[in-house]
Amino acid sequence: MCLAMAGVMLAATSVAFAAPASLPRIVEQNGRHALLVDGEPFLILGAQCHNSSAWPATLPAVWRELAYLNANTLEAPVYWEQFEPEPEKFDSSMVDELIDGARAHRLRLVLLWFGTWKNGSSHYLPLWMKDQPKRFPRMLARDGKPVDSPSPHSQELLQADIHAFRALMRHLREKDPAQTVILVQVENEPGTWGGFVRDFSPAAEKLFAETVPAELTAKLGVASGKNWRDTFGENADEFFHAWSVARFIGQVAAAGKAEYPLPLYVNAALRDPLNPGPATTYESGGATDNVLAIWKAAAPAIDVLAPDIYQFDPEKYLKVLDLYARPDNALLVPETIGNSPFSRHFFDALGHGAIGWAPFGVDHPQMTEAEWLTASRAPDYAHVGVARNFRLASSADRLLARLNFEGKLHAVSEQPGKPRQSLMVQRWDAKISYGLPPFGNRTEPKGNPQPTGGAIIAELGPDEFLVGGFFCRVDFVPHDLGRAQREYVRVEEVQLNNYALQMLRIWNGDETDWGLNFAGTPTWLHVKLGTF
Ligand code: DGJ
Repeated sequence: MCLAMAGVMLAATSVAFAAPASLPRIVEQNGRHALLVDGEPFLILGAQCHNSSAWPATLPAVWRELAYLNANTLEAPVYWEQFEPEPEKFDSSMVDELIDGARAHRLRLVLLWFGTWKNGSSHYLPLWMKDQPKRFPRMLARDGKPVDSPSPHSQELLQADIHAFRALMRHLREKDPAQTVILVQVENEPGTWGGFVRDFSPAAEKLFAETVPAELTAKLGVASGKNWRDTFGENADEFFHAWSVARFIGQVAAAGKAEYPLPLYVNAALRDPLNPGPATTYESGGATDNVLAIWKAAAPAIDVLAPDIYQFDPEKYLKVLDLYARPDNALLVPETIGNSPFSRHFFDALGHGAIGWAPFGVDHPQMTEAEWLTASRAPDYAHVGVARNFRLASSADRLLARLNFEGKLHAVSEQPGKPRQSLMVQRWDAKISYGLPPFGNRTEPKGNPQPTGGAIIAELGPDEFLVGGFFCRVDFVPHDLGRAQREYVRVEEVQLNNYALQMLRIWNGDETDWGLNFAGTPTWLHVKLGTF
């Protein structure tokens, strides 16, 4: 069998996604999701700047770093204190600078509304609000002392946030017909730290004693007509806080969406996904994995509940991906560890159907002092793995997003102590090994010195695949075919421009006799398999 593969166009795209350019939106099909941008699935190869870097003085370094990373999307904050310096007087100059800069650098934008909540506190409130703590109150602890976290029961605070967020979304509609901004995060890691599980203000106490709203009990399938304590027992305080925070943010989101219906998400500071412990040990009220259903019921205007993954234990990282990739929730990783070797989790996110993945704080890498001292290009060093991943994926961000939406993308990363992995794809058992030499040698793989490997196998047709990866060997074994052996009918190294594949060379001999070997150079292979 011979394929005329060089220089092919993958035709299927124009069939499924010929929709005219429309507003970005998230779609679901058979429990899988896509973020449509200009009517077609888009994969966010994102990077978030540091909290105080979305200023004209610091943006040049941010643009430089995004270019180095081969990212296609910047995630950057909009600060309420800057956006509404005086009541109802809005200053959109910094939003405009972000939009103009993103366009000039051919990037998309995810804006982060640092409004009522920022990491559980309310430090981004404008000065004129901070000056009126009685009007815009913080939560009260059980003993009546104020807690450094806004009260979700304050109507004044809610109305002020609604007003400002509406103004932001209205401005985006007017300023950005080209849809540079594709997604907006409402607040930042809302909830409450410090062991304070909920608000004990008089308004909160009154609501807590009342009957749980019927819309929540109906959604959760629990008995209605009882108060919070009687309905949820020892979880009552946390669930009440989650409902209250989500209800507040849901109203802010709905008001903004009425102005301009971009997809909206909320990011979550996670609890330990394997050994969570009580709500006093994590950010209570945020969209942690145990309250996702409450958030969905309370805030239907929020499209996605997104985990900020700072788990260094790979088992926990993978568990978080499992918990947030749900038929009713697109997987988006808006913040994560970008330092090598954790950049390999990009592959795991893809393998779980993610619509986007973004390391945090790319403009000043988080490095140890030793790393700073030894790195030859210090600013770039920490994110070298991200730059490599995005270099591979950026030539195919539309294609990968589409194949993932259709369930045809398979991806894994190397796990410490597990030098072999398997992916079942069509009639093939795709075997991925880490720590083997570039060719030859049938010895057992030992794993890479650091777990840096990762592989993507995308189905283009029956027995036809796009394979890419780093620091691994990929081979295919037919399963359930008796004595049949795998044959590499043809292996082409290709350059991708999404749906257009341009052949660079044919791999054969040492390059295929031992399997397909990937090192540190971003490489795509167009592979046609057969049996003999
Ligand atoms: C998570 C927050 O969402 C970010 O804004 C930032 O504060 C990081 N933590 C810092 O690690």
